[in-house]
Amino acid sequence: MSENGADREQWGSRFGFIMAAAGSAVGLGNIWRFPYITGMNGGGAFVLIYLAIVFIIGFSVMLAEMGIGRAAGLNAVGSFKKLGGGAWPLVGWMGVIAGFLILSFYGVVAGWTIAYMIKSFTGLMEAGAAGKAGDLFGAFVSSPAQVVAYQALFMFATIWIVFRGIGEGIEKYCKLMMPALFVILLVLILRAVTLDGAGKGLEFYLKPDFSKVTGGTILAALGQGFFSLSLGMGCMITYGSYLNKKEALPSAAMTVVFLDTMVAFLSGFAIFPAVFAFGMEPAAGPGLTFITLPSVFAKMPMGSVFSFLFFLLLFFAALTSSVSLLEVCVAYFKDELGWSRAKASWVLGLVIFALGVPSALSLGGHFPKIAGKDFLDAVDFLSSNVLLPLGGIFISLFAGWVWLDGARKEVTNQGSHPFPVETAWIWVCRVVAPLAIAWIFVKGLKW
Ligand code: PHE
Repeated sequence: MSENGADREQWGSRFGFIMAAAGSAVGLGNIWRFPYITGMNGGGAFVLIYLAIVFIIGFSVMLAEMGIGRAAGLNAVGSFKKLGGGAWPLVGWMGVIAGFLILSFYGVVAGWTIAYMIKSFTGLMEAGAAGKAGDLFGAFVSSPAQVVAYQALFMFATIWIVFRGIGEGIEKYCKLMMPALFVILLVLILRAVTLDGAGKGLEFYLKPDFSKVTGGTILAALGQGFFSLSLGMGCMITYGSYLNKKEALPSAAMTVVFLDTMVAFLSGFAIFPAVFAFGMEPAAGPGLTFITLPSVFAKMPMGSVFSFLFFLLLFFAALTSSVSLLEVCVAYFKDELGWSRAKASWVLGLVIFALGVPSALSLGGHFPKIAGKDFLDAVDFLSSNVLLPLGGIFISLFAGWVWLDGARKEVTNQGSHPFPVETAWIWVCRVVAPLAIAWIFVKGLKW
C-alpha cells in the first residue's frame, strides 16, 4: 500500500483541482435532470429550496469528503482505514461499488450523446421536423449494436483520460472541457432567450408555484443535490487526496458547489425558452433531451449546428464526470492492491463496460426487467437512491463525531487558515446532514 508519499500524483494547480472537481459534479444530472425536475416541482419555489439544501448540506458533505481525502492522501477505502479503522472502510467500499454501478449506466446514456452529435447532421433534424424524433430515439435505443458501440466509444474515452493520470489526464482535459462547456452553454442560452415566445418558457421554469411544494419536493431537491454534487461515494475523497496541503479547502468546496449549481440553473435557460417558443410540451426525463429538444432545434435556422453544440455540451459534461467515477475505482486498486494505473484503468474500465451492457440493452427491451424496472433504472435506483445517501450519512457522521479533531485541523490547514463557520459546519455534519439524508433515504425508497 503506498502511503501519502512524495510519489503520489498531485493536481498541478488549484484551478486544475477545481475544474476537475466541478467537472465531476457538472454532468448529465445538471443539464437534463435539474431543469426538468425544477419545472415539475414548482419552479422558482423549488430553486429556493434546492439552493438552501446544496449550500448548507451539500457544501458540508463536500468539505468533509475533501478533508478526509486530503488528510489521508489515499483512495476512499484506504482513507477510512487510515483515519478511522474498524468497520469504517466499508463506507469506502460502498463508494467503490457505487462507482462501478453508476459508471456502468452513465456510460450508456453518455454514449447516446456521441450518437446524437453525429445524428445532428445525419437525419435528426429531418426526423424532428417531421415530428418523428421519438421514433428515431426508439429505433436507436432498440438497436443493440449501435447503443453498445457508442457506449464502448465513450468508455474508451473515459479509460484513456484516466489512464493518462491525474495531471496529464483528468486535470488537463477538465481544464479544456469545462471552460468550453461554459462557452457552449452561454451560446445556447443566448439563442434560446432571444427566440420569440421565450418568456412563456421562463415563466414555466421559474415562476414560484408554492402549491406544488410538498414533502416530496424537498426530497427531490436533496436527492438531486447529492447526485449532482457527486457526493456520498468518495469521489471528492479521491480527488481531495491529490490536493496539496497548502490550498484552502472551504473556499474550494464552495466554488465547486457554486459552479455546479450555476450550470444546473443556467441549463434551464437554454432549454425551456426554446421548448416553449416552438410550442412543445416540456416532457419528462430522457425524452426532453433526446426527443423534444431535437424537434425544437429542427425548427431553428442552423438547427443542426445548435443541436450538435447541445450534445457536445452534454458529452463534455458526461466525460468530466465519468472520469471521476472511474478514478474512484482505479485509486482503490492502485493504492490498496498495488495495481499500476494502466492496468487498473483498462481492466476496471472494461469490467464496467461489460457491467453496463445489460443497461444498454434494457431500454430496447433486450434484457429482462428487474421487478418491473428496466435494468438501467434498477441500477440507477440502487446506486443513486441507496448507496449515495447511505454513504453521505456515514461520511458526515465520521467527520462530525469520529474524526472530529482531525477534521477541524484539516479544513483550517492546521489552524493557519480561518474558517468562520467551522462550528456550524461541524453541527451540520453531526446532526443536520445525517438526519436530513436519513429522511430522504427512508422516504425516497419507493421502488
Ligand atoms: N454529478 C454527476 C452528474 O451530475 C454524476 C456523478 C455522481 C458523478 C456521483 C460522480 C459521482 O451527472
